[in-house]
Amino acid sequence: NTSLEQTLLGAIRTIPDYPRPGVMFRDITTLLGNARAFRRTIDELVHPHAGAKIDQVAGIEARGFILGGAIAHQMSAGFVPIRKKGKLPHETVRIAYSLEYGLDEMEMHKDAVKAGEKVILVDDLIATGGTAEAAVKLLRQIGADIVAACFIVDLPELGGRKKLEALGVDVRTLIS
Ligand code: PRP
Ligand code: HPA
Repeated sequence: NTSLEQTLLGAIRTIPDYPRPGVMFRDITTLLGNARAFRRTIDELVHPHAGAKIDQVAGIEARGFILGGAIAHQMSAGFVPIRKKGKLPHETVRIAYSLEYGLDEMEMHKDAVKAGEKVILVDDLIATGGTAEAAVKLLRQIGADIVAACFIVDLPELGGRKKLEALGVDVRTLIS
């Protein structure tokens, strides 16, 4: 859908050399601030799951929270935050991961998803896929059934989509 891609591409800003020299940073805050682009994004991410019973939408800190909250509301699903380490107050599962420009650890509450619940994983962008892969492992560790992982932006040259597909995850992105 070319007009959708044009709308979304035109709404994303690129910042060279952020947060490290050599990285072309795709900044989605301009898309979030564009009412039409934001609504179309959420509609497009929800649409393939119309009529499906989704129990939880899991969003990856930080930008996955913004998208995930809107998607969960529209799907009448719950929302589960996957957070950087040290932020969640109750018992967690934790995993280390690497991303395009560093190393980190993420956590999720152990009781956030019940075994067998249908979950959609959401983030703004997939680059190397290290972040999303770690999130998939955490979700599966507590028994989630991951229906799909969805992102606004794919950076295909960094291989993230292939990494998730190799784990048997259905990946959906709106623009490359
Ligand atoms: C960005 C982005 C994804 C991740 C993608 O988040 O929002 O979560 O990197 O990279 P990957 O596919 O190579 O793992 P970032 O780690 O910058 O955290 P933030 O949202 O808290 O700024
Ligand atoms: N934008 C946002 N997050 C990212 C990017 C980017 O270009 N690359 C890796 N994580």
